[in-house]
Amino acid sequence: MRIRTLNDYTTAYRQSVENPENFWSNVAERFLWQKKWDKVLEWDFHDYKAEWFKGAKFNITENCLDRHLLNKADQVAIIWEPNDPSENEVELTYRQLHEKVCEFSNVLKSKGVQKGDRVCLYMPMVPELAIAMLACARVGAIHSIVFAGFSSSALADRINDAQAKVVITSDGNYRGNKNIPVKDVVDEALENCTSITSCIVLKRTEAKVTMQEGRDCWWHDEVSKAEKTCQAEVMDSEDPLFILYTSGSTGKPKGVVHHGGGYMVYSQYSFSNVFQYEEGDVYWCTADIGWITGHSYIVYGPLLAGATTVMFEGVPTFPDAGRFWEIVDKYKVNTFYTAPTAIRALQAKGLEFVNKYDLSSLRVLGTVGEPINEEAWDWYHEHIGKRRCPIVDTWWQTETGGIMISPLAGVTPTKPTYATLPLPGVQPVLLDQDGNELEGNNVQGNLCIKFPWPSMIRTTYGDHERCKQVYFSTYAGYYFTGDGCRRDEDGYYRILGRVDDVINVSGHRIGTAEVEDAINMNESVIESAVVGYPHEIKGQGIYAFVICDENSGKDNDTMLKEIIATVSRVIGPIAKPDKVLMVSGLPKTRSGKIMRRILRKIAEGATDQLGDTSTLIDPTVVEEIKEKAGV
Ligand code: WT7
Repeated sequence: MRIRTLNDYTTAYRQSVENPENFWSNVAERFLWQKKWDKVLEWDFHDYKAEWFKGAKFNITENCLDRHLLNKADQVAIIWEPNDPSENEVELTYRQLHEKVCEFSNVLKSKGVQKGDRVCLYMPMVPELAIAMLACARVGAIHSIVFAGFSSSALADRINDAQAKVVITSDGNYRGNKNIPVKDVVDEALENCTSITSCIVLKRTEAKVTMQEGRDCWWHDEVSKAEKTCQAEVMDSEDPLFILYTSGSTGKPKGVVHHGGGYMVYSQYSFSNVFQYEEGDVYWCTADIGWITGHSYIVYGPLLAGATTVMFEGVPTFPDAGRFWEIVDKYKVNTFYTAPTAIRALQAKGLEFVNKYDLSSLRVLGTVGEPINEEAWDWYHEHIGKRRCPIVDTWWQTETGGIMISPLAGVTPTKPTYATLPLPGVQPVLLDQDGNELEGNNVQGNLCIKFPWPSMIRTTYGDHERCKQVYFSTYAGYYFTGDGCRRDEDGYYRILGRVDDVINVSGHRIGTAEVEDAINMNESVIESAVVGYPHEIKGQGIYAFVICDENSGKDNDTMLKEIIATVSRVIGPIAKPDKVLMVSGLPKTRSGKIMRRILRKIAEGATDQLGDTSTLIDPTVVEEIKEKAGV
């Protein structure tokens, strides 16, 4: 199943399109199933459903852990590097990880967690996060990991939407020079969550926390009482494995649901082939497990492949901008996978931080999360990869579960800024505004996928209609990604960015509507409009145009501070606007719709491209906004 040459790729790709069921059944054969499937695939993109390996029985943790006890029990599964370089690292072998997962599975059971229950994880990047996640999977519970930078209100929304029974957190999180009181955030969230019966708290920072009698317990106390073996629950291939919330162009974040069987097959297949992982390699993905990249390419993909995966608790610039390269040197990392925003931030700090370290172990570099600009690509290639390492620019989404369009390292010839070619099994098409497939090369359109792949989104939690509406209604019969894309003369794909009202900030998806709703919660705000604009480090920044109540008596500076604080409180610091402009009106059409196109151009400073403003109710607001924005 391992592709090693471009020829292999071409053959595999052809087979995957000509006979997908046969192709994926051959891939899936290599996993441990308690019962094989009755049918490889059943699907319908009009009335959306996709079912993979239907009828098969298995447990993903037996594939991540038990299966490796035969031949690599003593190989390191997880290398954990703490935030502070003076603290000791932790290495867990497959045997140790297996035992810890079994132990914690028993803790979950003792808290009444059963197959199908939802468990929310709001934790730092420590091995216990991976352990808790795998323990959920082992007992058949559905994990919902919430990135620990989200606010208590965002956490409460997610807990309530999933009706989670248990939440797992820590007494605090170390991130750079910060010590974040996450237990307090959880306590605040739980005031508004009635579904939670237990809160398990991991000791990490020794910060003082309040423990609520009957609800809260310490991780170490519970583990000390638990048995060290635990039979894995027998799961159906189409049982849900996890929920992961993500933002879209409208409404509240939705819970993207992934089911175990297809996700297992695709996360390992894509991991092994894209990174060309070799036995014994040390692999490091710098993402946080709170995002899909961490789910698929720190935990599941690598462990399924029996790899050694590095988990890093900290941030790229603490204690200084050499931290990533220090870690590469320390563990002789072979594959390094990060986001363009991190590359740009470190590029800006200068080469002295890079050149202190020996990076000769590196063989493969990866990038993910947003389009990578050519300067960043070149810098990464030259100064990190020393022109020896292929760069895999991997395009995918929370909804796709795994990498969809990407070079296979050292196999696919790369081109800066191009995600290049689809993985076997992935059938991308570019559609024009009317939904016609654009044939041939040198075309640009909206990126859709026309055939199912095993790790695709199954539903949005609790609301299948929304799933159909968001992904399958823009173009009937196609999965719509929300991205614009170009196919060049070589048939290579280049992702151009979102075509909807989603902003990509440092590789994280933020819905403009969500930020507007948060801003509008400030009592002095009458109305707001949020757009993205090009940002040197973050890729895109958040620009908010805000109409405030003149009678509030607050000056601009106060309003600015308040708005930023409101967004941090409602969503989290990641959604804080980079720029706020107080205006007295917004450009609206006669039907009352805000013309964001105009605001985007103003935010970009491209006022010569405002286009037709004659349909606005009051075109003079544009002049006012331009003047205030200083463009
Ligand atoms: C959106 C998905 C799954 C990766 C983490 C982000 C953008 C992702 C690339 C890339 C250009 C990319 C797209 C996509 N994106 N990877 N290699 N080149 N754009 O996951 O939060 O679900 O966001 O990230 O716009 O739609 P996500």
